[in-house]
Amino acid sequence: MIIVDFQNCFIFILLSLFSLLCYSLFFRKPKEPRLHFDLPPSPPSLPIIGHLHLLISVLLHRSLLKLSIKYGSILYLRVFSFPVALISSASIAYEIFREHDVNISSRGFPSTDDSLFAGSFSFTSAPYGDYWKFMKKLLVTNLLGAQALERSRRVRADELDRFYKNLLDKAMNKESVEICAEALKLSNNIICKLIIGRSCSEENGEAEKVRALATELDGLTKKILLANMLRPGFKKLVVSLFRKEMMDVSSRFDELLERILVEHEDKLDMHHQGTDLMDALLAAYRGKIAEYKISRNHIKSFFADLLFAGTDTLVQTTQWAMAEIMNNPNVLERLRGEIDSVVGKKRLIQETDLPNLPYLQAVVKEGLRLHPPGPLFGRFSQEECRMGGFYVPGKTIVMVNAYAVMRDSDSWEFPDDFKPERFLDLSRSEQEEDRREQAIKYIAFGSGRRSCPGENLAYIFIGTAIGVMVQGFEWRIKEEKINMEEAVVGLSLTMAHPLKIIPIARTLIPLT
Ligand code: HEM
Repeated sequence: MIIVDFQNCFIFILLSLFSLLCYSLFFRKPKEPRLHFDLPPSPPSLPIIGHLHLLISVLLHRSLLKLSIKYGSILYLRVFSFPVALISSASIAYEIFREHDVNISSRGFPSTDDSLFAGSFSFTSAPYGDYWKFMKKLLVTNLLGAQALERSRRVRADELDRFYKNLLDKAMNKESVEICAEALKLSNNIICKLIIGRSCSEENGEAEKVRALATELDGLTKKILLANMLRPGFKKLVVSLFRKEMMDVSSRFDELLERILVEHEDKLDMHHQGTDLMDALLAAYRGKIAEYKISRNHIKSFFADLLFAGTDTLVQTTQWAMAEIMNNPNVLERLRGEIDSVVGKKRLIQETDLPNLPYLQAVVKEGLRLHPPGPLFGRFSQEECRMGGFYVPGKTIVMVNAYAVMRDSDSWEFPDDFKPERFLDLSRSEQEEDRREQAIKYIAFGSGRRSCPGENLAYIFIGTAIGVMVQGFEWRIKEEKINMEEAVVGLSLTMAHPLKIIPIARTLIPLT
């Protein structure tokens, strides 16, 4: 029989509780409180929504820049229950991409179930893992890597010639040119041809459909990304508000892509040896590439991702760079001098000329520095880590304000001025470490593993488009100066007053 001494038992329990208390007070390292002490600074927040009100701004990159000037170059924000670390200085951007690249190599967007955009099939929002690695390899090998770009040079040369002739027609007819509209045609044709092996037809309205979808996608993706930050119940409610729009764009996209897929499958069935990206994707879909089997939805979503990531970015950057050139006559003069002396006045600039045109390259870079089309980009920290001397918990959204980083006065002299020369000095720099550091503070294309795979294509596209416009034409503007006011449409930083200028052909005999 067990005899229980209640008094002793009570004393024992008391003693245990007391020693537990002593242990936690004096010996155990406090977990939560320690972490909270050295979190990055945080502006005052509101109950429940946290800092959401600070993120609802048309020119978000600018309001976040102001916030960072007031509170610090790394900030800790909270949107409902989602923690966000906001990075706004070149030195912290340098640190996080050098020291935590793997940790922040996912974007951490919870998927929006059945959408082709930013959903569970998306490459851009896929976690850093086997699917992402497989698709990235396909993308580099078949579309955006140096060798793939060399193979597709003819495609871009034909489209560039078409772009030039179109501008020439406008010049003959004394019509003004909306730079955005012309750049959009050029970028859409190039991207479609590179991916599906043919341009989308103007005659049956296919090209127009793709252009419209690319624009709609931009706006829609912003809504989806914001909705993904909400709590599940609330997210469902918010998504239901634009569900109709999402499904409408998704089904139009689906219809268009299904047609293109069937077209490719028919060709493959007729023993055609496919060489474009779509052929490679279909091979993976049919299980002919062993590493990873993808579905039809993966292919469609991939096309949507590329169209979204690759079209508007090129268009906006071309427009901004051209506007800066128009506002800086000395830059225009030097640029034209360089092109005339390297390319001459008889033949049209080609992408193979670009390595011999350092000033043109510097102009493009400077345009991107001042006007990155994606001023903010997001990552996700898997594990807790330290950034800028502060503790950042795991599962935090890391938002990088590329706009602020590239105008950080600690890293850039006269950060708000358009000075392409700064990149000429940079390329002469002897110090390897210096050059690496410079490359990190220039983050128009992001950095690290998840940086933009389209960077080389972008430099070629913008360099040649600007090259053609400067080499082939004088441009007349109606106002004294072009209004550089910013607007954000969808996720892209664009000009509030789209650039509309009048071309005058520089030579009577067209360049060939
Ligand atoms: C001026 C033109 C462009 C700019 C400024 C730009 C900028 C960016 C930026 C900032 C990111 C996020 C990078 C990061 O998280 O570190 C990104 C990602 C991406 N970009 Fe670009 N981009 C441009 C053109 C293109 C083009 C032409 C394509 C393809 C046709 C493309 C495809 C992508 C893709 C697929 C991603 C997602 C990469 C991933 O998640 O792994 N971009 N881009």
